[in-house]
Amino acid sequence: MTQHEPRGVVHWIDHYVVCTNDLPRWEAFHSAVLGARTAPTPAEVLDLGIFQTFTQGRHGGFIARTPLPPTRGLGKGLPRYAFFVDAADLDFHQARLASAGAVFERPVRTSAEGVPGVALYWQDPDGNQFEFWAPDVMPAGAMVGCGPARVGRISHGVFEARNLARTADFFKRYCGLEPLRDKARATDTLVLPMASGGRLIFRKVDALEGRTTGCGLPDAHTALVVRDGDFFFNLKRIWSELPEWEFDVSSGDVVAKREDMPPRTVLHLSAGGRRFKALTKRGDDWFDWDTNLFHFYGGEPIDGSMSVYEGRNIGHYIAQIEKEPGGALRLLELVGA
Ligand SMILES: [Fe+2]
Repeated sequence: MTQHEPRGVVHWIDHYVVCTNDLPRWEAFHSAVLGARTAPTPAEVLDLGIFQTFTQGRHGGFIARTPLPPTRGLGKGLPRYAFFVDAADLDFHQARLASAGAVFERPVRTSAEGVPGVALYWQDPDGNQFEFWAPDVMPAGAMVGCGPARVGRISHGVFEARNLARTADFFKRYCGLEPLRDKARATDTLVLPMASGGRLIFRKVDALEGRTTGCGLPDAHTALVVRDGDFFFNLKRIWSELPEWEFDVSSGDVVAKREDMPPRTVLHLSAGGRRFKALTKRGDDWFDWDTNLFHFYGGEPIDGSMSVYEGRNIGHYIAQIEKEPGGALRLLELVGA
């Protein structure tokens, strides 16, 4: 840990998931645009959708329960996920977007989201919003393993928030992130730089667009990387202060006014998440104030730096703990359950 790094601070976005109404179309489109390859998907996830890998990361397309709402469009619809790219490759990326039939705009220079660079906005056939982001200064590790498609790590996620001050307090408390104070930043925008690279960005809105529903998976969600040794520290902190929402979306139940519910934890709909809930009575997914869904993800530094890390999911931690005699009890101690 560096001298000034708060314990439990978020370093990167590891992965995200968006929803689709046509999974084969989603798979083919993102293979063409990102050079992504469909990953072997665990059986318990197959009901939800699939994952693809690219660069050092991965992303998912999960089948929406209902038709997705209309998007607010390029550069406006939220959530939006972005990828580091080199400025010299922007023509190459536009050519690939065009041949995939993507909706996209010419690249624009901007610093409205706190960092100067060039943004190329595009959307997939479901109206999910994306961006190729060429910053003036590339963080260490951002382009490692980018492959022939020249697409780097996930650079940022942009989310809706109805009260930016409330959101800033929330992410400072549970993710160790401090707002960027920058005059170039748009006034309706909260920018939270992560410790190793990239940003979480929140845009002030009066009403939510509806692509995050506050139900949990298969909704869009974002996995936030914390140091391997901080994974349980972060869970313990969030569990000690937020309530558990006893809701399982697979029940088919409909809960009214989810957009008005406060931050809370909830079951992560995977075998690992279900096992974790059985052991601890808590879920490891969590909502912010505005139906955005997150979970933590462990990162083991490679060569002593979090610029490049080895990812650890919840299944890894459970397997590790259950191998030990008395491991389940130790898990309860770790998370204060
Ligand atoms: Fe995830």
